[in-house]
Amino acid sequence: MTSIPTVTLNDGTSFPQLGLGTYELRGAAGVDAVVGAIALGYRLIDTAVNYENETEIGEAVRRSGVDRDELTIATKLPGRDHGFDETLASARGSLDRLGLDRIDLYLIHWPNPSVDKSLDSWRAMIRLREEGLVRSIGVSNFTEQMLSRLIDETGVTPAVNQVELHPYFPQSALRAFHTAHGIRTESWSPLAKRSELLAEQTVTDVAAAHGVTESQAVLRWHVQLGSTPIPKSAHTGRQRENADVFGFALTDDEVAAISALERGRLWDGDPNTHEEM
Ligand SMILES: NC(=O)c1ccc[n+]([C@@H]2O[C@H](COP(=O)([O-])OP(=O)(O)OC[C@H]3O[C@@H](n4cnc5c(N)ncnc54)[C@H](OP(=O)(O)O)[C@@H]3O)[C@@H](O)[C@H]2O)c1
Repeated sequence: MTSIPTVTLNDGTSFPQLGLGTYELRGAAGVDAVVGAIALGYRLIDTAVNYENETEIGEAVRRSGVDRDELTIATKLPGRDHGFDETLASARGSLDRLGLDRIDLYLIHWPNPSVDKSLDSWRAMIRLREEGLVRSIGVSNFTEQMLSRLIDETGVTPAVNQVELHPYFPQSALRAFHTAHGIRTESWSPLAKRSELLAEQTVTDVAAAHGVTESQAVLRWHVQLGSTPIPKSAHTGRQRENADVFGFALTDDEVAAISALERGRLWDGDPNTHEEM
């Protein structure tokens, strides 16, 4: 079993340096995949209302046999539930589907600026944390400007911002802002959804230099940037491979060479314009 190291979030809680994405892990096969990942050593499991698999994640937590306090179960508020009261109700819905008495990390999934209710949701999340229904609160797909607004209006800094981040889109300016404000970066689609990234010569060369796979080289790059990647895999072999990135280190030049693959967002997900309900 792999032991995945942790960092401490700005609210004092412990947070894994790598987790499991669960988009499209559904049904009995989805439960099995998550149970298997926990058995391999994964402790951070990333779900969302909109992945329609909170029930499966809760089932996997119970079946895993791992102490509840060792796991970080993260879920996300969907755009259609933005607003103060709506957020309180949505969180209770997630808790019901998960069958848990606490969400460990609760994120606003998308800021949806044209709706402009994410600040109301943030105030509700602060309340949920005070009530103990949520342990840590954060956001996803927030820009520097959007983060600043939450901080300025409430005095509460998100613990995490989960954003698109991979070698084609390293997000250096946003990461610097996170570091300055004590916000942990989390990388979604860390393998760029297995696009041509894993066949890039730079990635292949770095992987060969360390005797690891291309996915491991990329995931190690995330770790060394100080971001928590959440690769999704339905398969035990790949889950094991993806978690096994703490026994080697890239040189600064290798990190820079992978970052130089930058070309921008891959899926048109600019949070100023892209909205999800
Ligand atoms: N906050 C947001 O807005 C947002 C948006 C997108 C995603 N997310 C989260 O981020 C997670 C990860 O992102 P993602 O699922 O889009 O993409 P990803 O993790 O970058 O890539 C997943 C794809 O790569 C394959 N794969 C995994 N490990 C591999 C390996 N070692 N070698 C070769 N192929 C491998 C998987 O296939 P197999 O399953 O067949 O192994 C799957 O097709 C999601 O599951 C979700 O939890 C959040």
